[in-house]
Parts: sequence; C-alpha cells; structure tokens
Amino acid sequence: MKVNGTPTRTIWVEREPGAAPGAVGIIDQTRLPHRFETVSLVSLEEAAHAIKAMLVRGAPLIGATAAYGVALAVHGDASDARLAHAYETLHATRPTAVNLRWALDEMMATLTPLAEADREAAAWARAAEIADEDVEICRQIGLNGLALIREIAARKKGAPVNILTHCNAGWLATVDWGTATSPIYHAHEAGIPLHVWVDETRPRNQGAALTAWELNNHGVPHAVIVDNTGGHLMQHGMVDLVIVGTDRTTANGDVCNKIGTYLKALAAHDNRVPFYVALPSPTIDFTLSSGFDIPIEERGAEEVSHVWGRTGAGEITTVQVTPDGSPVVNYAFDVTPARLVTGLITEKGVVAAERHAIATLFPERAKAAA
Ligand code: MRU
Repeated sequence: MKVNGTPTRTIWVEREPGAAPGAVGIIDQTRLPHRFETVSLVSLEEAAHAIKAMLVRGAPLIGATAAYGVALAVHGDASDARLAHAYETLHATRPTAVNLRWALDEMMATLTPLAEADREAAAWARAAEIADEDVEICRQIGLNGLALIREIAARKKGAPVNILTHCNAGWLATVDWGTATSPIYHAHEAGIPLHVWVDETRPRNQGAALTAWELNNHGVPHAVIVDNTGGHLMQHGMVDLVIVGTDRTTANGDVCNKIGTYLKALAAHDNRVPFYVALPSPTIDFTLSSGFDIPIEERGAEEVSHVWGRTGAGEITTVQVTPDGSPVVNYAFDVTPARLVTGLITEKGVVAAERHAIATLFPERAKAAA
C-alpha cells in the first residue's frame, strides 16, 4: 500500500547495488501513528527483538520477519547448530500467532537438506518467497471478501456498508494488503461506499494507532470507537458486517485473535450481524482441534497501567492511568468458538468455520497434520 504516495511493504531487503542482501528493513510500528520511522535489522537478535517488542506485529508479518531472521542468522555460520539456535530464539519471541512456527518450519524444510555453503543464499530466497506469497494470499483474501461486501452493498442500494474491525489486521500486520482490511481496500477501490468502525483495541491501541492510520492514508471513511461501543452500534443497526483477523485458527474453526474479539462475536451473534474472519492458510493450525489449546500470550502490566501518545505540544510521552499499587492482568488474545463465526475468508474462498469444510479447502495441510 502507499505511504505518502510511495508503494510500501512492511518488510524489505536492503542491499548495496550488486551486493548480497545485508539487512532487512521494517517500519517501526511502535512509533505510529505519530512518526513514520524505519529500522534496519542486521542480526538474528535484532529480528527477534523486533518481533518481541512489537516493532513488527500481526501474525503474517511476524512469520515473514522470522523467515528473514533465519536468513540473517546464518551469515558466516550456517551449521545445523546455528539453524537450531535461530529456530529456538525466534520461536520464543511470541507464543500465539502460529505463522511464526509455520514460517520457521518452512525455512528449516528448505535449508536442512542443503550443504552449509548453499544455505545463506537459499534462506534469503525462501524468506523473499514467503513474503511474496503473503502479498498474493492477502490479495486473494481481498477479492473473496469483496464479493461479500458487494452482496451487502447491493442490498443497501447505495448506502454505505458499515464494517466493524478489531485490532489491526491491516497491511501493517501482513507484508501488504492486510487480511481483514484487504476486502475493505478492494471494495473502496471498486467504488463501493463503505464506512469502517475501528475498535481502539486497548491496551496497545492497534486499532486507534495503526488501522486508523492506514485507513486515513487511503481515504477510507472510518471512525475510531472505544472497545465497548460495538455492541451498542450493532443493537442500532449500525454494523452490517464484522471482519477481523486471527493469530491462530484451529482445525475445527475456533478463532484466536486479539483480546476482545470474542465479545464482538457474541454481540454480533445476538444481533444477527455476520461475523467473518479473514485469514491466510498459514494461520490455520491443523495440529490443534480446539481453540482452548492455543497458548495465550500474557504481556507486561505497563501496557495496561500506562498509555502512550502525543501531547498538544507535540511531545510523544507515556502517562500512568492506574493508581500506584493496583495489580494489572494483561491477556493479549482470546478465543472465539467456531459456532460464533459466520465464515472464514481465505485465499481459496469463503468457507464455514468447521473441520470438514476447512480440511476440504486445504487437503494437503490437513493431511500433513493428521
Ligand atoms: O498483538 P498483535 O498486534 O500482533 O495482534 C495482532 C492481531 O491480533 C491480528 O488481528 C492478527 O495477527 C491478524 S493480522 C492479519
């Protein structure tokens, strides 16, 4: 997508002209929406830190960064021991998004059979493929989701389609396009009138800071709402469709996503609002049959006790919102049971959140995990 008119991805390879790749460029998402800053990653440790500290975040982008982290790791030492160390270091960064494990497994499957001398070049090539594949997958998700939005738009006869989204499952969470936002961008480009309700998504405000920044850049009509507003909007017929992303969806269709997603799904169910989940197939964990087996990340107390933002004087600062001494609990994700999900928007089509339907769409992956 474009930043100030320039086509931009969330991750790219940096190299001197004619030279081998030397570094990986990323957008530092902890600085948005107030500053657009990029960072060069030159080592395994920097790639791991970028994921853990959430300079990059969102399941597909975590996977792509991990793949490039392996490429950075094998510079000068591509031994089996080094590969194993890279895998463990990157895998330990964040527990919930399964794209991390998927990308690391892909890298190992490519590199392990090769002679050590061939591994570094192969690692850069496979990481680039993973990034490119993600762009194409997200584009296809957009086209499949566009059909759903078109149907609703036809029923609304020119009135804007109101879509609610949670967290950031936008292009910033992927390599490009986004998952939940890809249908939105495609519909906007197709001239379908729409309006997006953006959940702020406390504690880290991925909605208010990142999704709103994206939509603003692309001229998509939207409004930021506090996380508890969705139910009220749905009761008053102000939401036509919910589209969210996911960090891991299990073989039976249970959806793990940013904390608060489950409450949106409950409200959508109660108000008969369609609740769709947009996801690339690497986000499906065919090894698990229940969302309640997914490890749920718990993050630091300061994300809840403090808020970060810009003062009227332009200073970027953090302030405390809880009393000194109040304990804080910070679960980063929750699980929406498959029964509350209207459908999964994948790169291969829209499918029921149900074991047989998912396995039929992705037979190789389902078989490999059986
Ligand atoms: O903690 P984050 O910001 O990495 O969480 C991101 C989400 O929950 C997204 O909805 C999910 O990764 C899907 S991204 C296409």
